[in-house]
Amino acid sequence: MPTPHISATEGEIAEAILLPGDPLRAKFIAETFLDNSVGFTGVRGMLGFTGSYKDMPISVMGTGMGIPSASIYITELIRFYGVKRLVRVGSCGGLTDAVPLRSIVLASGACTDSGVNRARYGGWDFAATADYGLLSAAVSAAEAAGLDVHIGNVHSSDSFYNPVENALEIWQGMNVLAVEMEAAGLYGIAAAEGVRALCVLTVSDHLVTGEATSSDEREGTFGDMVNLALEALLKDK
Ligand code: HPA
Repeated sequence: MPTPHISATEGEIAEAILLPGDPLRAKFIAETFLDNSVGFTGVRGMLGFTGSYKDMPISVMGTGMGIPSASIYITELIRFYGVKRLVRVGSCGGLTDAVPLRSIVLASGACTDSGVNRARYGGWDFAATADYGLLSAAVSAAEAAGLDVHIGNVHSSDSFYNPVENALEIWQGMNVLAVEMEAAGLYGIAAAEGVRALCVLTVSDHLVTGEATSSDEREGTFGDMVNLALEALLKDK
């Protein structure tokens, strides 16, 4: 049955899904990395596809930007389509010289200024963490591919244009590796729904050095990240 935001019928979405923010990235992933991909939704331009990777059925769908948008799609994918393993593939801003431009970050945990997890957790501070099985599968997939990855906390911000003047100082003070906008929402929903999630990111811009990748460059680093996410899902099975 279609939901308010996804027009797929039951069985059209795989139990494992990649979640880029950008719906056109979802289309690119389906066309470039999956075999026999077929579109299952396009409501509000939020494209979703199902295909296979090395014979493993897998879907890919955009989430839009930020926890509110991503939460709608993630919740419906889990509750109405039975999705069990969700891997966000996105970009982030680097917060430390230890995590340079173009490097890959595996978000073992996600801090946030969003209130969604507090709302779920009686006003207390919920530790939004990655699924350990997916995380360790991603680490071994990175080792097998000779890819250097950074593992640690990220900050999922409600604001791209952050009004908090000393936000960078606060993040750096707790050794947070990178800033993005969805991971804490994904991890909170996954915990509440009893499913598994991981967030894999590439550093597209750097808040310390001021560097940014060009869109051409992003395609290359993005490819490494997608391959890593797919191999992690395969190894985790
Ligand atoms: N802030 C928030 N989200 C991001 C950033 C950033 O600097 N870069 C990529 N995603």
